[in-house]
Amino acid sequence: MFPPRPTELLHLLLKSEIAAGDFAIDATAGNGHDTAFLAHIVGETGKVLAIDIQAQAIESTSARLESEGLRDRVKLHHGCHADLANLVGGKSPSVIIFNLGYLPGGDHGMITHRENTLKALDAASEILVPGGVLAVICYPGHNGGAEEAAAVEAFIATLAAHRTARYGMLATEKPAPFLLLSRKSG
Ligand SMILES: C[S@@+](CC[C@H](N)C(=O)[O-])C[C@H]1O[C@@H](n2cnc3c(N)ncnc32)[C@H](O)[C@@H]1O
Repeated sequence: MFPPRPTELLHLLLKSEIAAGDFAIDATAGNGHDTAFLAHIVGETGKVLAIDIQAQAIESTSARLESEGLRDRVKLHHGCHADLANLVGGKSPSVIIFNLGYLPGGDHGMITHRENTLKALDAASEILVPGGVLAVICYPGHNGGAEEAAAVEAFIATLAAHRTARYGMLATEKPAPFLLLSRKSG
């Protein structure tokens, strides 16, 4: 699709940012598309930590990884991404992805919330390797999404160590998802 959707653009751009052997984090595993993408790129010698607050998402991601032969490279964590700093065991990831909102095919009332998202982003910025990439896809189109998206955008803009860009479609019927792509200096 052209122009690409935020997730497509993110995957395209990250391919040259992640190397085999890297450690990457998917902070919202969902149905495992982003986790599987990261697991492919880090390769057999790399590791991915994928987190989701819903058991259904962890099961769905696990099934996708099994079917693609990627399960061994991924540690799945069923819990809240606000605990990110405690989950990495002192390791520094080169990439962290947040794909916010609700689980497609799941309960659309179970969405990411501003408070947890901001806590998690704060931790993400701390643990990211210097020169690493923080990517957030925001969905202002659902109930509560616009408030979260605005808070995330404002928060990332305050991160002094980061340079951030914003990408999204113009002139859409509903507020369109957008990608915040940020590099930590180093
Ligand atoms: C848009 S989906 C993620 C899509 C996913 N990355 C993929 O590739 O399929 C958003 C996910 O965030 C999860 N989520 C919501 N709040 C969370 C939290 N506090 N910590 C971790 N995951 C959370 C939801 O359960 C949902 O699965």
